Amino acid sequence: MKQIINTIIFIPILLLVYCSTPTREIKPLLARKPYLQCALKDSLTILWRTDTGTVCKVAYKPAAHGEWKSVEGNVRLTNTGVTENEVVLRDLEPNTPYRYKILTNDIDLLPDDTLWFRSPVSQKDSVFSFFAVGDIGEPIEEGGTPDLLAKALEPSVSSMNFGLLLGDIIYPDGKSEAYDSNLFNHFGSIFPYLPVFTVLGNHDWHEPENNYLKEWKLPHNEYYYSFDYGQAHFIGMDSKNGDFHEYEKQVEWLKSDLEAAQGNATWIIIFLHHNGKSCTYKEDYNNVMALYPLFEQYNVDLVLNGHAHTYERLNPMNGTGEVIPEYIGSSQVYHTPKGFISITVGSGGKLRGIGTDSKPFTPDPENCRHKDLVARAAHLWAFLKISVNGKQLKGESFATEDLHLVDEFTIHK
Ligand SMILES: [Fe+2]
Repeated sequence: MKQIINTIIFIPILLLVYCSTPTREIKPLLARKPYLQCALKDSLTILWRTDTGTVCKVAYKPAAHGEWKSVEGNVRLTNTGVTENEVVLRDLEPNTPYRYKILTNDIDLLPDDTLWFRSPVSQKDSVFSFFAVGDIGEPIEEGGTPDLLAKALEPSVSSMNFGLLLGDIIYPDGKSEAYDSNLFNHFGSIFPYLPVFTVLGNHDWHEPENNYLKEWKLPHNEYYYSFDYGQAHFIGMDSKNGDFHEYEKQVEWLKSDLEAAQGNATWIIIFLHHNGKSCTYKEDYNNVMALYPLFEQYNVDLVLNGHAHTYERLNPMNGTGEVIPEYIGSSQVYHTPKGFISITVGSGGKLRGIGTDSKPFTPDPENCRHKDLVARAAHLWAFLKISVNGKQLKGESFATEDLHLVDEFTIHK
Protein backbone atom coordinates (compact mmCIF):
# COMPACT_ATOMS: atom_id res chain seq x y z
CA MET A 1 0.00 0.00 0.00
CA LYS A 2 2.82 2.37 1.00
CA GLN A 3 4.55 1.64 -2.33
CA ILE A 4 1.39 2.53 -4.30
CA ILE A 5 1.02 5.81 -2.40
CA ASN A 6 4.71 6.63 -3.04
CA THR A 7 4.27 5.96 -6.77
CA ILE A 8 1.12 8.13 -6.90
CA ILE A 9 3.05 11.03 -5.34
CA PHE A 10 6.31 10.47 -7.25
CA ILE A 11 4.95 10.33 -10.84
CA PRO A 12 3.28 13.80 -10.76
CA ILE A 13 6.48 15.26 -9.26
CA LEU A 14 8.53 13.73 -12.08
CA LEU A 15 6.08 15.06 -14.67
CA LEU A 16 6.17 18.52 -13.09
CA VAL A 17 9.98 18.61 -13.18
CA TYR A 18 10.03 17.38 -16.80
CA CYS A 19 7.40 19.84 -18.03
CA SER A 20 8.93 22.82 -16.28
CA THR A 21 12.39 22.18 -17.82
CA PRO A 22 12.80 24.88 -20.49
CA THR A 23 13.41 23.53 -23.99
CA ARG A 24 16.44 25.82 -24.06
CA GLU A 25 18.21 23.43 -21.71
CA ILE A 26 18.09 20.62 -24.27
CA LYS A 27 21.56 20.86 -25.71
CA PRO A 28 21.45 20.98 -29.49
CA LEU A 29 24.31 19.43 -31.44
CA LEU A 30 25.97 21.24 -34.29
CA ALA A 31 25.13 19.61 -37.61
CA ARG A 32 26.84 22.18 -39.87
CA LYS A 33 29.35 24.84 -38.91
CA PRO A 34 28.37 28.48 -39.57
CA TYR A 35 28.58 29.91 -43.08
CA LEU A 36 28.25 33.50 -44.19
CA GLN A 37 25.94 34.77 -46.89
CA CYS A 38 24.57 38.01 -48.33
CA ALA A 39 27.51 40.25 -47.43
CA LEU A 40 25.59 43.27 -48.66
CA LYS A 41 26.51 46.84 -47.73
CA ASP A 42 26.23 46.91 -43.93
CA SER A 43 24.68 43.50 -43.35
CA LEU A 44 25.59 39.82 -43.27
CA THR A 45 23.57 36.61 -42.88
CA ILE A 46 24.96 33.82 -40.69
CA LEU A 47 23.55 30.30 -41.02
CA TRP A 48 24.33 27.06 -39.19
CA ARG A 49 22.55 23.77 -38.62
CA THR A 50 21.74 21.82 -35.49
CA ASP A 51 20.00 18.52 -34.75
CA THR A 52 17.30 20.37 -32.86
CA GLY A 53 16.55 23.86 -31.54
CA THR A 54 13.81 26.43 -31.08
CA VAL A 55 15.67 29.72 -30.65
CA CYS A 56 18.84 30.99 -32.33
CA LYS A 57 21.04 34.01 -31.75
CA VAL A 58 24.33 35.46 -32.86
CA ALA A 59 26.41 37.44 -30.35
CA TYR A 60 28.88 39.76 -32.07
CA LYS A 61 31.15 42.72 -31.58
CA PRO A 62 33.88 44.55 -33.48
CA ALA A 63 37.09 42.65 -32.69
CA ALA A 64 39.00 45.69 -31.47
CA HIS A 65 36.40 47.60 -29.45
CA GLY A 66 32.82 47.81 -28.24
CA GLU A 67 30.43 45.62 -26.30
CA TRP A 68 28.91 42.28 -27.28
CA LYS A 69 25.47 42.63 -28.83
CA SER A 70 23.15 39.82 -29.73
CA VAL A 71 20.43 39.44 -32.31
CA GLU A 72 17.83 36.72 -32.62
CA GLY A 73 17.09 34.93 -35.87
CA ASN A 74 14.82 32.23 -37.21
CA VAL A 75 14.93 28.46 -37.00
CA ARG A 76 13.27 26.11 -39.43
CA LEU A 77 13.27 22.42 -40.20
CA THR A 78 15.19 21.63 -43.39
CA ASN A 79 14.41 19.09 -46.10
CA THR A 80 17.05 16.81 -44.56
CA GLY A 81 15.37 16.85 -41.15
CA VAL A 82 17.81 19.05 -39.25
CA THR A 83 17.29 22.60 -37.98
CA GLU A 84 18.51 25.58 -39.91
CA ASN A 85 19.48 28.59 -37.79
CA GLU A 86 19.55 31.90 -39.65
CA VAL A 87 20.50 35.28 -38.22
CA VAL A 88 20.82 38.55 -40.13
CA LEU A 89 23.24 41.14 -38.74
CA ARG A 90 22.56 44.74 -39.74
CA ASP A 91 24.16 48.16 -39.30
CA LEU A 92 27.67 46.73 -39.30
CA GLU A 93 30.60 49.13 -39.35
CA PRO A 94 32.20 48.91 -42.81
CA ASN A 95 35.31 46.85 -43.49
CA THR A 96 35.73 45.93 -39.83
CA PRO A 97 36.82 42.62 -38.29
CA TYR A 98 34.12 41.26 -35.96
CA ARG A 99 34.08 38.40 -33.48
CA TYR A 100 30.93 36.31 -33.22
CA LYS A 101 29.36 33.37 -31.41
CA ILE A 102 26.50 31.16 -32.53
CA LEU A 103 23.86 30.17 -29.98
CA THR A 104 20.99 27.75 -30.32
CA ASN A 105 18.65 27.50 -27.33
CA ASP A 106 21.04 29.95 -25.62
CA ILE A 107 23.94 27.50 -25.82
CA ASP A 108 27.20 28.65 -27.40
CA LEU A 109 27.81 25.86 -29.91
CA LEU A 110 31.48 26.61 -30.58
CA PRO A 111 32.75 28.03 -27.27
CA ASP A 112 36.37 27.10 -28.02
CA ASP A 113 36.48 28.58 -31.53
CA THR A 114 37.41 32.17 -32.30
CA LEU A 115 34.81 32.89 -34.94
CA TRP A 116 35.27 36.09 -36.92
CA PHE A 117 34.29 37.82 -40.14
CA ARG A 118 35.18 41.04 -41.88
CA SER A 119 32.13 43.20 -42.61
CA PRO A 120 31.59 44.34 -46.22
CA VAL A 121 33.57 47.35 -47.38
CA SER A 122 31.62 50.57 -47.95
CA GLN A 123 30.88 51.85 -51.44
CA LYS A 124 33.58 54.46 -50.92
CA ASP A 125 36.16 51.74 -50.32
CA SER A 126 38.14 50.82 -53.37
CA VAL A 127 40.32 48.00 -52.05
CA PHE A 128 39.10 44.43 -51.66
CA SER A 129 39.72 40.94 -53.01
CA PHE A 130 37.79 37.74 -53.63
CA PHE A 131 38.27 34.24 -54.98
CA ALA A 132 36.31 32.58 -57.76
CA VAL A 133 36.15 28.87 -58.59
CA GLY A 134 33.56 26.38 -59.78
CA ASP A 135 32.89 22.66 -60.02
CA ILE A 136 33.92 21.86 -56.47
CA GLY A 137 31.88 19.25 -54.61
CA GLU A 138 32.92 15.97 -56.19
CA PRO A 139 33.05 13.22 -53.52
CA ILE A 140 36.62 12.38 -52.49
CA GLU A 141 35.95 8.65 -53.05
CA GLU A 142 35.14 9.55 -56.68
CA GLY A 143 38.47 11.34 -57.09
CA GLY A 144 37.22 14.81 -56.08
CA THR A 145 39.42 17.33 -54.27
CA PRO A 146 37.22 19.75 -52.29
CA ASP A 147 39.60 19.22 -49.35
CA LEU A 148 42.63 20.34 -51.37
CA LEU A 149 40.83 23.46 -52.54
CA ALA A 150 39.82 24.40 -48.99
CA LYS A 151 43.40 23.88 -47.80
CA ALA A 152 44.73 26.03 -50.63
CA LEU A 153 42.31 28.86 -49.79
CA GLU A 154 43.09 28.76 -46.07
CA PRO A 155 46.18 31.03 -46.08
CA SER A 156 44.20 33.76 -47.90
CA VAL A 157 41.09 33.70 -45.73
CA SER A 158 42.05 36.67 -43.61
CA SER A 159 43.17 38.73 -46.60
CA MET A 160 40.14 38.18 -48.85
CA ASN A 161 36.64 39.61 -48.52
CA PHE A 162 34.42 36.94 -50.10
CA GLY A 163 34.24 34.12 -52.63
CA LEU A 164 32.25 33.30 -55.76
CA LEU A 165 31.29 29.65 -56.32
CA LEU A 166 30.74 29.25 -60.05
CA GLY A 167 28.18 26.45 -60.14
CA ASP A 168 28.27 22.64 -60.14
CA ILE A 169 28.78 23.00 -56.46
CA ILE A 170 27.57 19.51 -55.54
CA TYR A 171 28.07 16.43 -57.70
CA PRO A 172 26.53 14.38 -59.03
CA ASP A 173 23.03 15.81 -58.61
CA GLY A 174 23.07 18.83 -56.28
CA LYS A 175 21.27 16.86 -53.57
CA SER A 176 20.92 18.46 -50.14
CA GLU A 177 22.06 15.17 -48.57
CA ALA A 178 25.48 15.55 -50.25
CA TYR A 179 26.15 19.17 -49.23
CA ASP A 180 27.91 18.32 -45.98
CA SER A 181 29.96 15.34 -47.16
CA ASN A 182 30.97 16.92 -50.49
CA LEU A 183 31.44 20.53 -49.42
CA PHE A 184 30.72 21.91 -45.95
CA ASN A 185 32.69 19.27 -44.03
CA HIS A 186 35.81 20.27 -45.98
CA PHE A 187 35.32 24.04 -45.78
CA GLY A 188 35.17 24.40 -41.99
CA SER A 189 38.23 26.68 -42.08
CA ILE A 190 36.80 28.88 -44.85
CA PHE A 191 33.03 29.29 -44.73
CA PRO A 192 32.68 30.46 -41.08
CA TYR A 193 34.97 33.41 -41.93
CA LEU A 194 34.51 34.29 -45.60
CA PRO A 195 31.10 34.96 -47.16
CA VAL A 196 30.33 33.24 -50.46
CA PHE A 197 27.97 34.04 -53.31
CA THR A 198 26.98 31.10 -55.49
CA VAL A 199 25.35 30.41 -58.85
CA LEU A 200 23.68 27.25 -60.12
CA GLY A 201 25.39 24.83 -62.47
CA ASN A 202 23.84 22.06 -64.55
CA HIS A 203 24.53 19.44 -61.84
CA ASP A 204 22.90 21.64 -59.19
CA TRP A 205 19.80 21.58 -61.36
CA HIS A 206 19.49 17.76 -61.40
CA GLU A 207 17.25 17.79 -58.34
CA PRO A 208 13.74 18.77 -59.45
CA GLU A 209 13.00 20.28 -56.04
CA ASN A 210 16.04 22.40 -56.47
CA ASN A 211 17.86 21.58 -53.28
CA TYR A 212 20.30 24.42 -54.05
CA LEU A 213 17.80 27.05 -52.91
CA LYS A 214 17.45 25.25 -49.59
CA GLU A 215 21.19 25.37 -48.93
CA TRP A 216 22.04 28.98 -49.80
CA LYS A 217 20.68 32.44 -48.97
CA LEU A 218 21.15 34.77 -51.90
CA PRO A 219 19.81 38.15 -52.96
CA HIS A 220 16.83 38.83 -55.28
CA ASN A 221 15.20 35.59 -56.49
CA GLU A 222 18.38 33.59 -55.70
CA TYR A 223 18.62 32.21 -59.25
CA TYR A 224 20.00 35.49 -60.60
CA TYR A 225 20.90 38.58 -58.66
CA SER A 226 23.32 41.45 -58.40
CA PHE A 227 25.12 43.24 -55.61
CA ASP A 228 27.57 46.07 -55.13
CA TYR A 229 30.79 45.54 -53.29
CA GLY A 230 33.00 48.60 -52.89
CA GLN A 231 33.07 50.25 -56.28
CA ALA A 232 32.33 47.06 -58.17
CA HIS A 233 29.02 45.68 -59.39
CA PHE A 234 28.58 41.89 -59.45
CA ILE A 235 25.94 40.00 -61.40
CA GLY A 236 25.30 36.29 -60.77
CA MET A 237 23.34 34.48 -63.49
CA ASP A 238 21.65 31.09 -63.70
CA SER A 239 22.70 29.39 -66.94
CA LYS A 240 20.96 26.12 -65.92
CA ASN A 241 21.91 23.55 -68.60
CA GLY A 242 23.32 26.20 -70.88
CA ASP A 243 19.79 27.18 -71.85
CA PHE A 244 19.34 29.45 -68.79
CA HIS A 245 16.54 29.61 -66.25
CA GLU A 246 13.81 32.00 -67.52
CA TYR A 247 16.12 33.11 -70.33
CA GLU A 248 14.09 36.03 -71.76
CA LYS A 249 13.10 37.28 -68.32
CA GLN A 250 16.65 36.93 -67.04
CA VAL A 251 18.10 38.81 -70.03
CA GLU A 252 15.57 41.63 -69.58
CA TRP A 253 16.53 41.81 -65.93
CA LEU A 254 20.23 41.76 -66.88
CA LYS A 255 19.74 44.66 -69.29
CA SER A 256 18.04 46.86 -66.73
CA ASP A 257 20.55 45.89 -64.05
CA LEU A 258 23.49 46.72 -66.33
CA GLU A 259 21.81 49.97 -67.33
CA ALA A 260 21.46 51.02 -63.70
CA ALA A 261 25.12 50.18 -62.97
CA GLN A 262 26.42 52.51 -65.69
CA GLY A 263 28.39 55.37 -64.20
CA ASN A 264 27.96 54.00 -60.66
CA ALA A 265 30.52 51.21 -60.69
CA THR A 266 34.20 51.23 -61.63
CA TRP A 267 34.08 47.49 -62.36
CA ILE A 268 31.32 45.23 -63.65
CA ILE A 269 31.83 41.51 -63.10
CA ILE A 270 29.46 38.80 -64.27
CA PHE A 271 29.63 35.26 -62.92
CA LEU A 272 27.74 32.21 -64.17
CA HIS A 273 28.36 28.53 -64.74
CA HIS A 274 28.52 28.10 -68.51
CA ASN A 275 31.11 29.46 -70.89
CA GLY A 276 30.43 31.28 -74.13
CA LYS A 277 33.28 30.86 -76.58
CA SER A 278 36.11 28.71 -75.34
CA CYS A 279 38.80 26.26 -76.41
CA THR A 280 38.14 23.75 -73.66
CA TYR A 281 36.48 20.39 -74.24
CA LYS A 282 33.08 22.00 -73.66
CA GLU A 283 30.99 23.36 -76.49
CA ASP A 284 30.42 27.09 -77.01
CA TYR A 285 27.10 28.00 -75.44
CA ASN A 286 24.96 30.14 -77.75
CA ASN A 287 22.86 31.64 -74.97
CA VAL A 288 26.01 33.01 -73.33
CA MET A 289 27.43 34.27 -76.63
CA ALA A 290 24.11 35.99 -77.31
CA LEU A 291 24.87 38.19 -74.29
CA TYR A 292 28.20 39.43 -75.68
CA PRO A 293 26.68 42.54 -77.32
CA LEU A 294 25.24 43.51 -73.92
CA PHE A 295 28.60 42.88 -72.25
CA GLU A 296 30.26 45.27 -74.68
CA GLN A 297 27.48 47.86 -74.68
CA TYR A 298 27.34 48.02 -70.89
CA ASN A 299 31.09 47.94 -70.20
CA VAL A 300 31.36 44.55 -68.54
CA ASP A 301 34.98 43.95 -67.50
CA LEU A 302 35.08 40.30 -66.48
CA VAL A 303 32.94 37.23 -67.11
CA LEU A 304 33.80 34.33 -64.78
CA ASN A 305 32.50 30.81 -65.37
CA GLY A 306 33.08 27.19 -64.48
CA HIS A 307 31.72 24.08 -66.27
CA ALA A 308 34.92 22.98 -68.07
CA HIS A 309 37.13 21.42 -65.41
CA THR A 310 40.19 23.39 -66.31
CA TYR A 311 41.59 26.94 -66.30
CA GLU A 312 41.39 29.20 -69.35
CA ARG A 313 41.66 32.98 -69.72
CA LEU A 314 40.58 34.45 -73.04
CA ASN A 315 41.85 37.57 -74.74
CA PRO A 316 39.49 40.57 -74.52
CA MET A 317 36.58 40.18 -76.93
CA ASN A 318 34.15 42.66 -78.39
CA GLY A 319 30.38 42.27 -78.63
CA THR A 320 30.63 40.03 -81.69
CA GLY A 321 32.92 37.62 -79.85
CA GLU A 322 36.01 38.59 -81.87
CA VAL A 323 39.30 39.10 -80.08
CA ILE A 324 40.11 42.81 -80.20
CA PRO A 325 43.11 42.89 -82.61
CA GLU A 326 45.48 44.81 -80.33
CA TYR A 327 45.10 42.07 -77.70
CA ILE A 328 45.99 39.10 -79.89
CA GLY A 329 48.76 37.18 -78.16
CA SER A 330 49.23 36.55 -74.48
CA SER A 331 48.88 39.95 -72.90
CA GLN A 332 49.02 40.24 -69.16
CA VAL A 333 48.58 43.99 -68.74
CA TYR A 334 45.67 45.98 -70.16
CA HIS A 335 45.54 49.78 -70.11
CA THR A 336 42.18 51.53 -70.67
CA PRO A 337 40.88 48.19 -71.85
CA LYS A 338 38.28 47.61 -74.49
CA GLY A 339 35.95 44.64 -74.48
CA PHE A 340 35.57 42.03 -71.75
CA ILE A 341 37.76 39.20 -70.50
CA SER A 342 36.16 35.80 -70.08
CA ILE A 343 37.76 33.25 -67.73
CA THR A 344 36.91 29.61 -67.11
CA VAL A 345 37.77 28.48 -63.57
CA GLY A 346 36.02 25.10 -63.44
CA SER A 347 39.14 23.69 -61.81
CA GLY A 348 37.75 23.46 -58.28
CA GLY A 349 37.59 19.78 -57.47
CA LYS A 350 36.76 17.54 -60.39
CA LEU A 351 39.54 17.48 -62.90
CA ARG A 352 38.91 15.78 -66.21
CA GLY A 353 41.69 13.30 -66.92
CA ILE A 354 42.55 12.91 -63.25
CA GLY A 355 40.58 10.87 -60.76
CA THR A 356 37.84 8.69 -62.14
CA ASP A 357 37.36 10.52 -65.45
CA SER A 358 38.93 8.09 -67.86
CA LYS A 359 39.66 10.33 -70.83
CA PRO A 360 42.87 12.30 -70.46
CA PHE A 361 42.46 15.88 -71.51
CA THR A 362 45.10 18.35 -72.58
CA PRO A 363 43.94 21.78 -73.71
CA ASP A 364 45.77 22.93 -76.76
CA PRO A 365 45.15 26.60 -77.50
CA GLU A 366 47.19 26.22 -80.72
CA ASN A 367 44.59 23.85 -82.10
CA CYS A 368 41.66 25.79 -80.76
CA ARG A 369 38.57 26.06 -82.91
CA HIS A 370 38.78 29.84 -82.37
CA LYS A 371 42.03 31.35 -83.61
CA ASP A 372 43.79 33.78 -81.25
CA LEU A 373 41.20 33.35 -78.54
CA VAL A 374 43.22 32.06 -75.60
CA ALA A 375 45.62 34.16 -73.53
CA ARG A 376 46.48 31.43 -71.02
CA ALA A 377 45.26 27.89 -70.41
CA ALA A 378 46.40 25.30 -67.91
CA HIS A 379 44.94 21.95 -67.03
CA LEU A 380 45.25 21.58 -63.27
CA TRP A 381 43.35 22.24 -60.08
CA ALA A 382 43.34 26.02 -59.57
CA PHE A 383 41.41 28.95 -58.17
CA LEU A 384 41.33 32.58 -59.23
CA LYS A 385 41.99 35.48 -56.90
CA ILE A 386 40.92 38.94 -57.98
CA SER A 387 42.27 41.99 -56.14
CA VAL A 388 40.65 45.35 -56.78
CA ASN A 389 42.49 48.53 -55.88
CA GLY A 390 40.61 51.55 -57.20
CA LYS A 391 41.09 51.64 -60.95
CA GLN A 392 43.41 48.65 -60.97
CA LEU A 393 42.21 45.05 -61.02
CA LYS A 394 44.66 42.21 -60.65
CA GLY A 395 43.87 38.58 -61.40
CA GLU A 396 46.02 35.73 -60.15
CA SER A 397 45.34 32.08 -60.67
CA PHE A 398 46.96 29.71 -58.17
CA ALA A 399 47.45 25.95 -58.44
CA THR A 400 45.52 24.24 -55.67
CA GLU A 401 48.17 21.60 -55.00
CA ASP A 402 51.19 23.85 -54.31
CA LEU A 403 49.93 27.44 -54.74
CA HIS A 404 52.25 28.19 -57.65
CA LEU A 405 51.17 31.06 -59.85
CA VAL A 406 49.45 29.73 -62.97
CA ASP A 407 48.34 33.00 -64.53
CA GLU A 408 48.47 36.69 -63.78
CA PHE A 409 46.94 39.74 -65.44
CA THR A 410 46.24 43.36 -64.56
CA ILE A 411 43.70 45.81 -65.90
CA HIS A 412 44.29 49.55 -65.42
CA LYS A 413 41.48 51.98 -66.09
FE1 LIG B 1 28.79 22.01 -65.48
